[in-house]
Amino acid sequence: MINGRVFVTRELAPQVIQRLRNEFSEVDVWEPFGPPTPTELAERTAGCLALLTMVSDRVDAALLDSAPTLQVVANMAVGYNNVDIAAAAERGVIITNTPNVLEETTADMAFALMLAVARRVVESDADTRAGNWGLWHPGLFLGNDVHGATLGIVGLGTIGSAVARRARGFDMRIKYTARNRQPETEAPVGAEFVPSLQDMLGQCDFVSLHVPLTDATRDLIGAQEFGLMKPTAYLINTSRGDVVNTDALLAALQDGAIAGAGIDVTAPEPIPPDHPLLQQPNLVITPHLGSATHATRGRMAMLAAENAIAACSGGLAPNAVIG
Ligand code: GLV
Repeated sequence: MINGRVFVTRELAPQVIQRLRNEFSEVDVWEPFGPPTPTELAERTAGCLALLTMVSDRVDAALLDSAPTLQVVANMAVGYNNVDIAAAAERGVIITNTPNVLEETTADMAFALMLAVARRVVESDADTRAGNWGLWHPGLFLGNDVHGATLGIVGLGTIGSAVARRARGFDMRIKYTARNRQPETEAPVGAEFVPSLQDMLGQCDFVSLHVPLTDATRDLIGAQEFGLMKPTAYLINTSRGDVVNTDALLAALQDGAIAGAGIDVTAPEPIPPDHPLLQQPNLVITPHLGSATHATRGRMAMLAAENAIAACSGGLAPNAVIG
């Protein structure tokens, strides 16, 4: 039994909470649906050995300083841009993530957005529900084909290559750009390496983003990049909102620089309800649901719990990103 408290910032599946209760002498779970404020997070983390966080919880130097007993932050996500890694390293706090359990599910979501925006699924669903079916017309809600189109993948990591595997089934031509060429990953999915993002953009009908958010990828897609895309092309973003410049995206959708976008992430996140992006008919938007299936969220929560337990038991946390 670990003699100490873990604070879990959202209610998770009962078996995950039970697993934590079996190991930690105290388990504190945040019950409201919404996240704790930074002050509430600091109050509840003070005195804890472990903290189990979501992508929407900010873990910064101030939070870490308010909890000097903290040994581990187990983030329930593969991305950890919500955590100040350098501040954690300075304080000897272990940070863990949840890789290898959500990539296929997130790739499904990228494909869902691609199909939905190109075939105008959401727009035509809303129109039909509004009672506007009326008479069928051959020019009604025309979209663009996904099958046979050219897909440009930005970042051929585990999620990017899972998207590429799906694209093969749609007979798509697959290109990718990344910091380094990845011959072993590109060969099985038949993806062609394009060293420059700028060069790739003009060659694609769909551009799908699969990079982590870092200083190098913030605002990777801005006005200049939208200017290079085909006016018939679509941007798909299931990575992080800040990889795309929001003002440039809005302008591109309004001016027809691109045909549309499917985004699961925004900057800021959550997007304010009166944001002009929400008025764009050529945008399909979902509230950060990339890994949101019963099975995958269950696996992520259990993996985060196992990481917290391992780190506090003196063992090696299986998914330490620093340590
Ligand atoms: C979700 O966004 C994740 O990083 O897992």
